[in-house]
Amino acid sequence: MRILILGADGYLGWPTAMYFAANGHEVLAVDNYLRRRLARETMSEALLEAPNLQRRAEIFQSLSGHHVDVEILDCTDYRRLSQLFEQFKPEAAIHYAEQPAAPYGMLKWSEASLTLNNNLNATLNLIWAVMEHAPECRIVKLGTMGEYGTPNIDIEEGWLEVEHKGRKQKFLYPRQTGSLYHTTKILDTDLLWFYVRTFGIAVTDLMQGPVYGITTPEADLDDALLPNFHYDDIFGTVLNRFLVQAVAGIPLTVYGKGEQSRGFLDIRDTIRCVELSVLSPAEPGQLRIMNQFTETFSMNKLANRVQRVGNGMGLNVSIDHIDNPRKEPEDHYYNPAHTALLDLGLDPHYLTDEGVATMLEKVLEYRDRIDRTRILPRVRWKQGLSS
Ligand SMILES: NC(=O)c1ccc[n+]([C@@H]2O[C@H](COP(=O)([O-])OP(=O)(O)OC[C@H]3O[C@@H](n4cnc5c(N)ncnc54)[C@H](O)[C@@H]3O)[C@@H](O)[C@H]2O)c1
Repeated sequence: MRILILGADGYLGWPTAMYFAANGHEVLAVDNYLRRRLARETMSEALLEAPNLQRRAEIFQSLSGHHVDVEILDCTDYRRLSQLFEQFKPEAAIHYAEQPAAPYGMLKWSEASLTLNNNLNATLNLIWAVMEHAPECRIVKLGTMGEYGTPNIDIEEGWLEVEHKGRKQKFLYPRQTGSLYHTTKILDTDLLWFYVRTFGIAVTDLMQGPVYGITTPEADLDDALLPNFHYDDIFGTVLNRFLVQAVAGIPLTVYGKGEQSRGFLDIRDTIRCVELSVLSPAEPGQLRIMNQFTETFSMNKLANRVQRVGNGMGLNVSIDHIDNPRKEPEDHYYNPAHTALLDLGLDPHYLTDEGVATMLEKVLEYRDRIDRTRILPRVRWKQGLSS
């Protein structure tokens, strides 16, 4: 298939691009390096210095024989995105191209505005480019489990049937989130739902939990092909952060009580879920929502796991409950459904002690690059300003 990947320089985008190319698809990888720029501006560069997208594609081709086409383009520029659709005519478009860091969007007005405009305009432009130039193209959009927040009832996969005064109606599951970034993802879903029900496009919206992991079979070919790996307080996801903290000898930063629960998944499962969504697509006129995670953990459970495995490797890992910079329930009910992707054929890589040890060993190779000033929270929700 002709597969367009928007946001292909990112943590998830690059390994996805290699995977689809290695599996015989024609891949066009698009990015505008927004994440690299924002990381530089906030002193939050990744642990591994990744070559630019073009160079990564060259290295990948020389080692594997598989080709990834690259286009540096801003998805908020409709003219260029629609030209690209006209020429490439993708059969599937995977949309990762958003500003994904909750703390970044909480910094100041300028960062909130960038997050809102970038994320919504990229999504709107993708929808229009599909409608105008590739109406058969299946959209696979990355949403987040954070869209649901932590309600006191079970979380369903996208939809909820409501009975009211004796009548019934299916609605998008109520969404109530805790950051501006997550709010842009809710707005994306609403935008997609409008165009699905009005113009009949086919969309899969994947409500993904925090992803962890550094390696995939393609990335393992060379360290220059590893995904961007952020461990800072702004762009790093929690388990990746704990791994780096364990290696650096910094107490693991559990926010508040640590009973916040989330649904997690291995980066290899992200790629497989996206592949399943592309190969078994939504129908025209369908907004298919699937919850994309494989197991839930509280922050305390994750921290304890990293501590136990790290100590077994002689790392001397401790845990610190620090003042929570976010505004979020620290102890709550959490029971989200997640059967749709399993039904499509997902065979999860669950988190094992061996898996944690393998990731710690990889981070140990880069121990000298860890900048200790990027670990503690620099952004606080309550004031909405950087501290
Ligand atoms: N990583 C996770 O744990 C996680 C969890 C849930 C959801 N998600 C979602 O998955 C997607 C990918 O996440 P990620 O962790 O790979 O993020 P990332 O920041 O590493 O990758 C996103 C990429 O998109 C690019 N981009 C952003 N705006 C763009 C634009 N206007 N034009 C072109 N390129 C643009 C960035 O430069 C970056 O390379 C995001 O939509 C994110 O919200 C990620």
